[in-house]
Amino acid sequence: MSGTVRIHIEGIGSMDVPTDLNLREALRREGIFLDGTCADEGTCGRCVVRILEGDAGSPSASERGILGDEALGRGDRLACRIRPTGPLKLTIDPERILEVDRTGRWKGTWGSPLWDPARFPLSFTGWGIAVDLGTTSVASALFCLDTGRPMDILASSNPQIPWGDEILSRLQAASGDPEQALKLREVLLAAVAGQIQSLCSRNGLFTGRISRIVMVGNSAMHHLALGLPVAPLLTPPFSPGYRDEMILGPAEFPLGIGLNHAAEIIFPALVDGFVGSDASAGILAVRSSRVLTGALLDIGTNSEAVVWKGDRIFAGSAAAGPAFEGGHIQCGMRAEEGAVFQVKITGDALITEVVGGGAPRGMCGTGIVDLVAGMLDRGIIENSGLVRADVHPSQSGKTMMLDPAGRVFFEPRDVETVQKTKAAIAATLETLMKRADVSHDRLEEIYLAGAFGARLNLHNAIRIGLLPSRPELSFVLAGNTALIGASYVLLSREAQEEIDGLAAAVQHVSIAQDPGFEDSFIDHLFF
Ligand code: FES
Repeated sequence: MSGTVRIHIEGIGSMDVPTDLNLREALRREGIFLDGTCADEGTCGRCVVRILEGDAGSPSASERGILGDEALGRGDRLACRIRPTGPLKLTIDPERILEVDRTGRWKGTWGSPLWDPARFPLSFTGWGIAVDLGTTSVASALFCLDTGRPMDILASSNPQIPWGDEILSRLQAASGDPEQALKLREVLLAAVAGQIQSLCSRNGLFTGRISRIVMVGNSAMHHLALGLPVAPLLTPPFSPGYRDEMILGPAEFPLGIGLNHAAEIIFPALVDGFVGSDASAGILAVRSSRVLTGALLDIGTNSEAVVWKGDRIFAGSAAAGPAFEGGHIQCGMRAEEGAVFQVKITGDALITEVVGGGAPRGMCGTGIVDLVAGMLDRGIIENSGLVRADVHPSQSGKTMMLDPAGRVFFEPRDVETVQKTKAAIAATLETLMKRADVSHDRLEEIYLAGAFGARLNLHNAIRIGLLPSRPELSFVLAGNTALIGASYVLLSREAQEEIDGLAAAVQHVSIAQDPGFEDSFIDHLFF
């Protein structure tokens, strides 16, 4: 019979979790996302927790194999292999926590394996805020500039979404109508101002004590926030109207929240019309002397990729469409309450996991990746993308039914959409790798930015050809790389100079115009 047990995690708090879930899943439902790439199969070894008190049962064979006697003796266990039956006290290495989102205090920035407070020397005093103006969401982080300590973080949906999920719709609205441009700017600035006020009030600060704000975003968000004309971004050669770093005072960038007149609001330089300061901030976050050859992939509404080899850095956007954000898929949705985020096809069964644990309302990107991989493994989809009818009991003809009520389903045309999207992303990465003269086996690390990476089953993403075939340990689930980079710029003059240098050093590649792209795209259409 299932019940609940009390779990206490050092530094995070206590919670009651169901006894019929593995610990990793139970914590996920509490908003605590542990590292892991094997979909709770107990094979990747990333979801390690340390038991300080309580009986977590005998270690499984996979724990004995992966962790070994010494680590088990210290209390280390794999969270996905434990089903708690009594109270437990745990500690978790911060590097094992991808994200904590309880009571709205998302702590992913400093839970990210990339966040390194010693990376750049501190240069400023007082309090500061780093802001990522994302197409889908806006995130702000409050820092103590004297110590470099991250204090708090907030994220919310971008209020411009009613003008269109895709940035192009917003640019077209702003370009054709000055009133719409003004409205788009107003709602965005109101969201940023609201986040800054909330961060200050819940940390006992007056907004007048904020001395420095750094804002990064793609070139479109940058122009919309600053009220710059967007027409140059819509017509060849698609160059930004203004690309240099901007340092403004509160009078020039009025947020209406009583900032000190001496406060600085910094917009780092853009690379060009297609590659904004969010990309250079992401590069700043992931590129270090430790990794000489690497790639950064941000899969979202507008997927972007960067490949570097030493000082040569190439960036481009994939004309891929939003399938992995749930867009253009019949029953697709964002990774919100009710989204199927994990799918397993075993024998005659199709097992789904739903955000929030209730009835499914649709499928988000990670669920779509799992489903397609499972259908390929079971021979329901051929490598060409052709769907075979009635191979599995969950099929009705060629349509996969994900719930008995038939509300969530996956049709052959969805398979085609996934094929085109994953082919565009894979071909974009390949095009950049060719420009940088890097082969797959020379990529030391591949950083996956954004929320999509946090629940992605890497094995399945490689299976469908979305990601290159590399050992799973070469992938780093990197979190919000744009916000991490903006935070470094907030704290350090050296980082501010480095991001300015990156804007000049990064070479933008017009992917669709590259002579090799089309052939690569066609090759990658196959699974
Ligand atoms: S070993 Fe736990 S998620 Fe893979």
